[in-house]
Amino acid sequence: MKKLTIGTPLSSSATKVMLLGSGELGKEVIIALQRLGVEVIAVDRYENAPGHQVAHRAHVINMADGAALRALIEKEKPDVIVPEIEAIATEMLVQIEKEGVVRVIPTARAAQLTMNREGIRRLAAETLQLPTSPYKFADSLEDLRAATEVIGYPCIIKPVMSSSGKGQSKVDDASEVKAAWDYAASGSRVNQGRVIVEGFIDFDYEITQLTVRAIRENGGTETHFCDPIGHVQVHGDYVESWQPMAMSSLALQRSRDIAKKVTEELGGLGIFGVELFVKGDQVWFSEVSPRPHDTGMVTMCTQRFNEFELHARAILGLPVDTTLRAPGASAVIYGQMDERGIAFAGVAEALRVPESDIRLFGKPEAFKKRRMGVALANGKDTDEARTRAKLAASKVIPVKV
Ligand SMILES: Nc1ncnc2c1ncn2[C@@H]1O[C@H](COP(=O)(O)OP(=O)(O)OP(=O)(O)O)[C@@H](O)[C@H]1O
Ligand SMILES: [Mg+2]
Repeated sequence: MKKLTIGTPLSSSATKVMLLGSGELGKEVIIALQRLGVEVIAVDRYENAPGHQVAHRAHVINMADGAALRALIEKEKPDVIVPEIEAIATEMLVQIEKEGVVRVIPTARAAQLTMNREGIRRLAAETLQLPTSPYKFADSLEDLRAATEVIGYPCIIKPVMSSSGKGQSKVDDASEVKAAWDYAASGSRVNQGRVIVEGFIDFDYEITQLTVRAIRENGGTETHFCDPIGHVQVHGDYVESWQPMAMSSLALQRSRDIAKKVTEELGGLGIFGVELFVKGDQVWFSEVSPRPHDTGMVTMCTQRFNEFELHARAILGLPVDTTLRAPGASAVIYGQMDERGIAFAGVAEALRVPESDIRLFGKPEAFKKRRMGVALANGKDTDEARTRAKLAASKVIPVKV
């Protein structure tokens, strides 16, 4: 792989990185890249997205439109493209990668496989033989009824193209299947009408295993692991996370074996969030993000280099260091109202919580359940950190101006 030298932004020697998706995770990746002297172009589907506000240039396009995406890439001529969201015209990225001028992080194939639950699930379970929940796919209500009978109850029904728990429901018996089908159609990113039915895993806890593929000193790629992150999800969306998650050594070993296999198969350079379910020493692969993970925002207060800095370094071919500095936790701050241009009361009170910090993402429009910020906290252990992070988050009150 061609080594990137870092030049001077806004000059002919500039090293240019284009972020496709510029939300709160992209914003932090951009800040990390800016600090390394990279020229950054932030792209999103709406104006004044969080990452737009900290990049050298900002563009608003529909990233699912392949022609629009190609036109922008040809205009900006980035050295590297970093997908931050799933809803992108990934076939176009595959084509552009083939032309050999731009590098896609981690690879265009990884972006393509993970944007659709079917691609990554078949790869993990059928090609790599990793343990997963039992599953079936369905294209119609009739198919779905048959599939749920085979998988059994309870089960989880999800659109194959969706994220953040959208369109996802838990079904306890046959009478609930129709409602789940209708709900999946409403939450699907593209109205494709294809769903996955997964057997419900009665896990003790779930983790994100952040895994970094970075260049080794003498060439080749090396896999690095962060400490495991525990998290709580409500309706498929993360509300709090903490690091490190206490695990048995066997469960941790199995988690890392799974993470190594799946990230090696996806290839390329950068950070991955491998989502795993754990019960005792048993571990199931759930899914993987070939990019920083929302639950990994906790690393902004726990690691020597947070997940965004690790991503920035890895994609530039620089060394990484996944050392944990201190136990910590994150808790989400929601919009709590549907309103544009809100303000935040209670920030000073939040920051009076010991060892706490907050990030406000600067999203132009709030929704009741939209993530507008995150509270971070350290403590002597993750219990104390979680209490502090939740307390700090609760002090921040969105207000209408
Ligand atoms: N088969 C399952 N058994 C038990 N719980 C599950 C199962 N599938 C999903 N869940 C629960 O729902 C959450 C969200 O599921 P999943 O990660 O597949 O959805 P998502 O829409 O991709 O969410 P995100 O984008 O936030 O990761 C999981 O983190 C887990 O808590
Ligand atoms: Mg998930």
